[in-house]
Amino acid sequence: MTYGQASSGDVDRVLVVDFGAQYAQLIARRVREAHVFSEIVPRDIGAAEVADRAPIGIILSGGPASVYAEDAYRIDPAILDLGIPVLGICYGHQLLAATLGGEVAHSDGAEYGRADLTVTSPDAVLFHDLPEEQPVWMSHKDEVVAVPEGFTAVATTPGAAVAAMECPERGLYGVQFHPEVGHTPRGNEILRHFLHQVCEARPTWTHLNIIEHSIDAIRAQVGDEKIICGLSGGVDSSVAAAIVQRAVGDQLTCIFVDHGLMRADEGEQVEETFRRNFNVHLVHVKAEDRFLERLAGVTDPEEKRKAIGETFIRVFEEEARKLSDARFLVQGTLYPDVIESGSKDAAKIKSHHNVGGLPDDLAFDLVEPLRDLFKDEVRAVGEELGLPEEIVWRQPFPGPGLAVRVIGEVTKERLDILRAADSIILEEITRAGLYNEVWQSFGVLPAIKSVGVQGDFRTYAYPLILRAVTSDDAMTADWARLPYEVLERISSRVINEVEGINRVAYDISSKPPSTIEWE
Ligand code: XMP
Repeated sequence: MTYGQASSGDVDRVLVVDFGAQYAQLIARRVREAHVFSEIVPRDIGAAEVADRAPIGIILSGGPASVYAEDAYRIDPAILDLGIPVLGICYGHQLLAATLGGEVAHSDGAEYGRADLTVTSPDAVLFHDLPEEQPVWMSHKDEVVAVPEGFTAVATTPGAAVAAMECPERGLYGVQFHPEVGHTPRGNEILRHFLHQVCEARPTWTHLNIIEHSIDAIRAQVGDEKIICGLSGGVDSSVAAAIVQRAVGDQLTCIFVDHGLMRADEGEQVEETFRRNFNVHLVHVKAEDRFLERLAGVTDPEEKRKAIGETFIRVFEEEARKLSDARFLVQGTLYPDVIESGSKDAAKIKSHHNVGGLPDDLAFDLVEPLRDLFKDEVRAVGEELGLPEEIVWRQPFPGPGLAVRVIGEVTKERLDILRAADSIILEEITRAGLYNEVWQSFGVLPAIKSVGVQGDFRTYAYPLILRAVTSDDAMTADWARLPYEVLERISSRVINEVEGINRVAYDISSKPPSTIEWE
């Protein structure tokens, strides 16, 4: 189910043409924050396909290339004749100029970072009611040196004579700077002027509307068939399950494979939330013994992942076979996965997040209720549906769980030691108000012991590695500058309260060259 295919007349849609994935995603999110549905489309989209999608506006994103490079990305010029308003941003601005007969050239004053913008036309639509002078964020080597016929230059910066141009008669607009980034403080208002004044977009993309649409789409797809959802305790599968439950109630059965590698109390929380609060048919498979048996003697990180992945599929398969009349399987695919797997420069999607690898004779049709949503929208929907904060705002947690944080052999005893320490970390990080500030915070149990002294006794026990990182997307990360007092409290509580640990060390490595997890 996707709004991309099921054209729905009551949701206004803006297309974001992708000339650089990072830029396009951020623009698409900003548009949605203005309550207008946005869809990212590839740069080679043709005018006929654009017309088919009936957008009320089109935004050409920024990108790293130069418009007069030989293999520069182009746009089908017929798109500009459809009568649909267009806003070009950075590369999109230059492309608009170059396509319509203006001129783009290497700039003498390449601008990177903050620049002071002066609005030169009091009638400029994009800057309506905004100050004449304002800081904007720039990143360009080329610049528009002559606007196309019918356009007016409406703003300048020291490095760009045409920092913005407009042709209201044709509904075409361009800005050299990036209105979508936080460093352009009035950028959101500029975007909203385009959306609301130029495109006359209605604020139809609200959380309630998202839920309503999803529910309609799920009902239309599933009819009165049975449907299965694998729950992991994470935000995506939880929100997906909650929304499917809202849509088709009793037709849904959730399977929660408890591999015994969760944090303390997480299994109980899944029970509490889904069975007791949401009244979901929940199959809670307590498979700890089976996983631990399979993990006995395994020390290589990739072997561990493989062992866990295979066991998981097998357990899930067994349970799914018992629900022999189910036809559909819920998958928590998000919009960035959809874009990435569809785009030409796509990075591979991580397969370990999904329940892939089910045997062919166990074929399900997929229901993907989140495939139009960004992560922040998934969280908002989760809150709206009444899921608890601990689930909605849970930090990312690896599928193989604590097994990748117990270095060396994974045993029940070592898992319990780590779980006890991990609970203290979670409690103290939360108490200090840092849980949502850091990207992830957790403990790692290495396979070494060191000497300590407690009371009159010499101890020989594990150290605990404390890891807390800041990050936007897990691709890069930095160690979190936790206050000394928090480090001190965690250290003294862990050493005093957790038998088996006599030392705490803080990991101060960034990614790259390290990774977030230890295995
Ligand atoms: P690394 O350690 O590669 O982790 O910097 C990046 C992000 O991915 C998570 N991670 C995993 N998630 N299965 C998962 O579902 C895995 O095997 C796995 N390994 C790492 C990690 O927690 C971090 O958020």
